[in-house]
Amino acid sequence: MKIVLASHNQNKIRELKRILSVSIPEVEVFSLDEVGLTDEIEENGTTFEENALIKARAAAEFSGLCSIADDSGLIVNALNGEPGVYSARYAGEPCDDQKNNEKLLKNLEGIGDRSAAFVCTIACVIPEGQPLAGDPIIGTGYCPGEILFNPRGNAGFGYDPLFWFDPFGKTFAEMSAEEKNAISHRGAGVKAFADAFNKRIAEEKEKLWKRYGL
Ligand code: IMP
Repeated sequence: MKIVLASHNQNKIRELKRILSVSIPEVEVFSLDEVGLTDEIEENGTTFEENALIKARAAAEFSGLCSIADDSGLIVNALNGEPGVYSARYAGEPCDDQKNNEKLLKNLEGIGDRSAAFVCTIACVIPEGQPLAGDPIIGTGYCPGEILFNPRGNAGFGYDPLFWFDPFGKTFAEMSAEEKNAISHRGAGVKAFADAFNKRIAEEKEKLWKRYGL
């Protein structure tokens, strides 16, 4: 099965290629650049799911192949879900992690409720005529935590130094990659997506058997 990953981010592509080749046998994975879509896809949705679908649809329409995209970010309860889909560019363009973190701390000044969650949605669009075609397949993962008053740790990226995960007694920026992967929104999103994808495969097999009266 041929799959396009709707991203120009080489780290994401490498990670998803590895995961997909383990969970889907005989998969051939292509990046956007490899199928010739070099333009940036505008992410103008208002939810993570909308943005993931926008990217997956654009890649599917361009390539005619099954296409997968993800979108992720941080939602903070006391800020009505901000920074949300604006997580990367919260403090404006170009994306600057330190400025984003400073803005987050400023907006939370004097607020007692520091609860937050990272969210990751993965969407797959399969055009008519391709195996498993049908409604988009979607999986979402969450990781709940709290926003600290000061950054801690040097690993990771984005809001990691401010994101406290109480069960481990650490911020995301104080965890090893293995620790973070085990509990992160991205790991949970991939698992939810793989479950939904495998469900589609099982449904297709069922339809096939029914066609032969079995
Ligand atoms: P993307 O959609 O996966 O590129 O992520 C959008 C933005 O959300 C990133 O630029 C970060 O600011 C934030 N973000 C997403 N996942 C994480 C994470 O695991 N740690 C810290 N920040 C994250």
